[in-house]
Amino acid sequence: MYKTIFLIFFLINSTFSLHSIRDYGAIPNDTSVDAAHRNTQAMIDASNSANLDPIPENRTVLIPAGYIFYFFTVSLSDLTNVTLRIDGHFAGSTNFTEWLKILPPFVGLPGPENEPDASINGTNLLIQNSQNITITGNGIVDGSGNTFWDAYWVDFSYPRIHLLTMFHCRDIEIYGLHFKNPGSWTLNFADVLNLHLYNVNITVDQINKTEMAIKHGISDEAYHAYPLFTDGMDIRGKNVLVENVHIQGFDDAIGVKEMNWGAVNFDNTFTDCSENMLIRNIIANGTYGVSIGSIHPDITPSCIRNITFENIELYNPKRAINIKMLRGIGNATVDQITFRNFYCDSAESDLLWLGPTNDPRGDGGCSPDFPTANNSCITNPNISVSNLLFENIIGINAGGIPGTFQGKSNTKAHIRTRNGYQTHVLVVIMLYE
Ligand SMILES: *[C@@H]1O[C@H](CO)[C@@H](O)[C@H](O)[C@H]1NC(C)=O
Ligand SMILES: *[C@@H]1O[C@H](CO)[C@@H](O)[C@H](O)[C@H]1NC(C)=O
Ligand SMILES: *[C@@H]1O[C@H](CO)[C@@H](O)[C@H](O)[C@H]1NC(C)=O
Ligand SMILES: *[C@@H]1O[C@H](CO)[C@@H](O)[C@H](O)[C@H]1NC(C)=O
Ligand SMILES: *[C@@H]1O[C@H](CO)[C@@H](O)[C@H](O)[C@H]1NC(C)=O
Ligand SMILES: *[C@@H]1O[C@H](CO)[C@@H](O)[C@H](O)[C@H]1NC(C)=O
Ligand SMILES: *[C@@H]1O[C@H](CO)[C@@H](O)[C@H](O)[C@H]1NC(C)=O
Ligand SMILES: *[C@@H]1O[C@H](CO)[C@@H](O)[C@H](O)[C@H]1NC(C)=O
Ligand SMILES: *[C@@H]1O[C@H](CO)[C@@H](O)[C@H](O)[C@H]1NC(C)=O
Ligand SMILES: *[C@@H]1O[C@H](CO)[C@@H](O)[C@H](O)[C@H]1NC(C)=O
Ligand SMILES: *[C@@H]1O[C@H](CO)[C@@H](O)[C@H](O)[C@H]1NC(C)=O
Ligand SMILES: *[C@@H]1O[C@H](CO)[C@@H](O)[C@H](O)[C@H]1NC(C)=O
Repeated sequence: MYKTIFLIFFLINSTFSLHSIRDYGAIPNDTSVDAAHRNTQAMIDASNSANLDPIPENRTVLIPAGYIFYFFTVSLSDLTNVTLRIDGHFAGSTNFTEWLKILPPFVGLPGPENEPDASINGTNLLIQNSQNITITGNGIVDGSGNTFWDAYWVDFSYPRIHLLTMFHCRDIEIYGLHFKNPGSWTLNFADVLNLHLYNVNITVDQINKTEMAIKHGISDEAYHAYPLFTDGMDIRGKNVLVENVHIQGFDDAIGVKEMNWGAVNFDNTFTDCSENMLIRNIIANGTYGVSIGSIHPDITPSCIRNITFENIELYNPKRAINIKMLRGIGNATVDQITFRNFYCDSAESDLLWLGPTNDPRGDGGCSPDFPTANNSCITNPNISVSNLLFENIIGINAGGIPGTFQGKSNTKAHIRTRNGYQTHVLVVIMLYE
């Protein structure tokens, strides 16, 4: 009897006592800079109050349905047992002038010289040092990407920010949301432990490419790349399950990255190796397919281990499966990586790639004519790759070749393929055991 009343009491109250950002001064449907600053503070205040709420059911921050709220970087930290419930529309401010005043200075490409600040602070929604965090709702999380992509064509040193970054966080559940139009990566997980992400859609709108090309006089290559760097998600961490995700974008759909980034120290709390991840039931359109890396070697050797990609459908990817390696001082290991049950339709170039990242960060890369007209392609010999399994990989209508495995004699790649199938016949595989 007492228990029943107690429960009803909670149910009634929890409906009314979520920490709605409107109760903390947020202004809906207002694109002004002032409103975006107010909303940013309101979300920080609502989160801090939720975090202090003694009633477990009240520890929820609400972005209410029916409204759009604009924000600058919402930086949250030290939260425990908090839910972010996004039923409305969370949007990045579209005022690039003001963004430039707020963001730390860094060049457009995230790189060793500006990591981790650029990769962590250059974000629309940032959650750090937190545990038992749930992010859900029926709403939209929107990076207002065109604000950044448009500026980027004017000056490549302009920032393009990630949409959601979680740094030093554990016990995370993310589901049911639609993330769209990030400035750069959509979801950026750095040093996370125990992540379950599911039933999420990620889309990147292509804002009229023709118009963009005419406006900025951009080259054919850039035109095809636009809007590059909009990865679906990049993950550095341990014990990760990602499932039932739809992605439409213009760079890696899902990238698993190492815990170190060259000379940069992320001060990892949970693991020094990116490991134990299962990524399954993914449908991606456009994108650069799924990736291990780019792997940056490190003096404290970088490591990626025990990662499985399973039941993956890729439509029109640039490439389908990538293991990409950068140059740099030090070593790295990649071990126990499985790619199972892939269906790839119309890859623009090769289906599989193991080799150097073609990256402007001076890594050497490959000749643009590799491997047909020029065989120059140097993979960092200090990155060891072992126990790769490619199983039941089906590709149809690929524009390039089925696969390239470019190693050095001391890059130990043990590669097995089962049931590989591909409609094109040209095969160039360089395999080192
Ligand atoms: C949290 O819930 C309690 C009762 O369940 C209520 O008294 C309190 O006002 C709520 N807190 C907020 C901030 O709404
Ligand atoms: C606020 O914006 C939302 C989303 O664009 C729209 O559906 C709603 O009608 C707007 N409400 C008001 C009061 O303008
Ligand atoms: C978080 O929730 C768990 C139960 O799920 C509880 O044991 C713990 O005390 C809570 N911590 C805080 C800070 O609310
Ligand atoms: C953008 O923000 C700047 C201040 O940084 C302001 O001067 C300008 O009027 C804003 N533009 C719009 C369209 O609101
Ligand atoms: C980025 O955020 C960290 C704290 O998380 C801070 O120490 C650092 O100074 C920030 N960098 C910039 C450039 O604002
Ligand atoms: C997180 O939640 C789990 C169970 O839901 C609980 O056991 C654990 O104590 C919580 N962690 C913290 C730091 O409150
Ligand atoms: C994701 O997209 C699928 C297919 O379009 C749709 O059925 C589903 O409702 C969407 N889910 C979310 C959370 O947007
Ligand atoms: C895209 O831009 C071009 C050039 O401005 C224009 O002719 C075309 O109608 C636009 N298409 C769409 C779908 O907006
Ligand atoms: C590999 O990762 C999976 C999770 O994807 C985990 O269940 C399994 O225990 C891990 N294997 C080892 C040997 O750690
Ligand atoms: C992929 O995206 C293109 C537009 O970029 C669209 O025309 C096509 O229908 C999409 N295909 C799938 C399978 O979603
Ligand atoms: C690690 O990398 C360095 C070069 O950066 C190389 O000299 C050294 O032999 C490598 N060590 C191992 C164990 O591979
Ligand atoms: C092959 O490509 C490499 C790297 O781009 C270049 O240095 C080299 O001159 C090329 N060789 C030929 C024969 O074109």
